[in-house]
Amino acid sequence: MQGRIDYDPAQRVALQQLQKLQDQLLTRTEFKKKSTLQKWRLPPVCRSLYIFGEVGRGKSMLMDLFYQNCPISQKRRVHFHAFMLEIHDFVHHWHQQHDSDAILALAQHIIKTHQLLCLDEFHVTDIADAMLIVRLFGKLIDLGLTVVTTSNYHPNELYRGGLQRELFLPFIKLLQENTDTIYLTGNKDYRCNQEPAVKTRFFFPLNEHASEFAQQHCKQLTNCAPMHTVTLHVLGRQLILSAAFAKISLTSFHELCVQPLGSSDYLTIASHFETIILTGIPRLNSELRNETKRFITLIDALYEYKVRLICTAAVPLDELCDTDDVIDFERTHSRLLEMQSARYI
Ligand SMILES: Nc1ncnc2c1ncn2[C@@H]1O[C@H](COP(=O)(O)OP(=O)(O)O)[C@@H](O)[C@H]1O
Ligand SMILES: [Mg+2]
Repeated sequence: MQGRIDYDPAQRVALQQLQKLQDQLLTRTEFKKKSTLQKWRLPPVCRSLYIFGEVGRGKSMLMDLFYQNCPISQKRRVHFHAFMLEIHDFVHHWHQQHDSDAILALAQHIIKTHQLLCLDEFHVTDIADAMLIVRLFGKLIDLGLTVVTTSNYHPNELYRGGLQRELFLPFIKLLQENTDTIYLTGNKDYRCNQEPAVKTRFFFPLNEHASEFAQQHCKQLTNCAPMHTVTLHVLGRQLILSAAFAKISLTSFHELCVQPLGSSDYLTIASHFETIILTGIPRLNSELRNETKRFITLIDALYEYKVRLICTAAVPLDELCDTDDVIDFERTHSRLLEMQSARYI
């Protein structure tokens, strides 16, 4: 967003519903503070919302606006992937220490500490997640948690074609009965408006703006989800990368080209990630001969797999290689140029 919000009728309707929910949440908070005598009326119902639509329609933006402005303290906003990782982690640890139902314990914990949960990019791809979701969200809805969800899928389309989908269907029914669905029907992908910002995929020099540049791309691509180390398996070895989220890796010249990696590592990386943010490329000279060779192999692999590459470097692309004793750099230079074009992506 460039500081200006365009008028969008579907977003307006969604905002009205979000505003209504915010008012209800506030009234409920006030209600809870009242004495027993004053509670002669039932607390207001705060129906959960499920916002869906195609990419770039403003789902996350609306949810974030709502979340930031919602004046209750027991709230949480989290990316769905990160939330699922936490659930798996909780269940795993719980079963090491208890015999009782981990999902029930987790649901009770969440309901005690949260009134509002905002989940970005809800989607279900595997059976393990599907079964956890059926149980956990079933409990959370039963216990009255308000959940605002964004998703690219209509509820009926969730986990379509998934293994044993019939076990997931009761959850879809529950979701439809207990949430209001908002469809962002707009036909404009607002992300496309931002081409100029995204076009710059090669930043130099390596000053404080370079790390800001990398961080901003990272945030935009991951929707602010936290990154973690990831272990890839290359021909029976383990290759650990320091920061990744889903198909995005934030890495560095040091991690990929100073470490003694080879083409099988680069191909594994290239086949695993859709986007690589590669920071700290130095000016390549004869003292960095091995590093330069690795860099060339890395770029070949990324190019081959059509990986989107975002870099920060010490010098402009035309000045990147300061030596003649590495023969293949011309190809690398041309590939790096092409990898920044809209056509490549
Ligand atoms: N009405 C609007 N006017 C201007 N920019 C918008 C508008 N709606 C969304 N955007 C911007 O478009 C980009 C994509 O929106 P986002 O909420 O991430 O989409 P979604 O989550 O639906 O994929 C964001 O940078 C957002 O700020
Ligand atoms: Mg989004």
